[in-house]
Amino acid sequence: MKQTQTTSSQANVVRSTNTRSKPSIILSAVVLTSIAGFSFAAFAHGGATGVVKERMDLMSNIGKAQKSLAAMFSGKEKYNVQAVRDAATIIENHAGDKINNLFPKGTVEHPSEALPSIWQNWSEFKNMSDQLAVYAAALKANAGNSRAGAQGQKKPAMGMGAGAMMGQKKTGMMGGSGSSMGAANTAMSAKQQVEMLAKMPPMASFQKVAQTCSACHTKFRKKKSK
Ligand code: HEC
Repeated sequence: MKQTQTTSSQANVVRSTNTRSKPSIILSAVVLTSIAGFSFAAFAHGGATGVVKERMDLMSNIGKAQKSLAAMFSGKEKYNVQAVRDAATIIENHAGDKINNLFPKGTVEHPSEALPSIWQNWSEFKNMSDQLAVYAAALKANAGNSRAGAQGQKKPAMGMGAGAMMGQKKTGMMGGSGSSMGAANTAMSAKQQVEMLAKMPPMASFQKVAQTCSACHTKFRKKKSK
């Protein structure tokens, strides 16, 4: 596995939080929960073993990568093409079968937050983890593209709208399962999708990555109370 704190932005966040010299578990909670759109379970590792622990660790790793991307795409940190590529690579390398293989049927032991519905909707789940790899690979490819003023912009830029449309083009035919994300692109191979998305502004792919994380969490992960 790759190291998780590859970017200077990540290091900066950790350093500035660290000045308050709290225990590192709180530190990581602060870092993780600051990612827009997610509620992270930084404390949930407690007592986890085996495959549950492995996938929590995997999710934590992509959570850190996603966090550094969010900082750059929100303008909080300076945009750095190589740092974006590094973070996207971490996500790509942890997605697809890496995720799927860590969800053997029925593994919901405490403290797992995985919902049993994962295995009733396995193809949808798998689709989302596979799409995550596609969008992360696309971001890796288009990180250096023109950002068309997208830096610091919370609302999708025009390029983003087009990207979302492209991503969801086939949804209508899939019967509108409510999770257009995963089911959207089955007609195209992963490679074809990446090639197409590689032409988009990086913000478009970042948004798709973020949407895929939250779509899967919304559907397949227990709601957090903290
Ligand atoms: C295919 C579904 C799926 C995708 C895609 C997905 N996750 Fe997860 N994630 C889960 C599930 C299920 C859990 C709960 C696992 C458990 O507790 O056993 C989880 C848990 C987590 C956790 C908590 C780990 C812990 O310490 O307990 C973090 C952080 C996380 N995900 C981040 C992300 C980020 C960031 C992305 C996108 C870059 C992402 N996830 C994409 C399904 C997904």
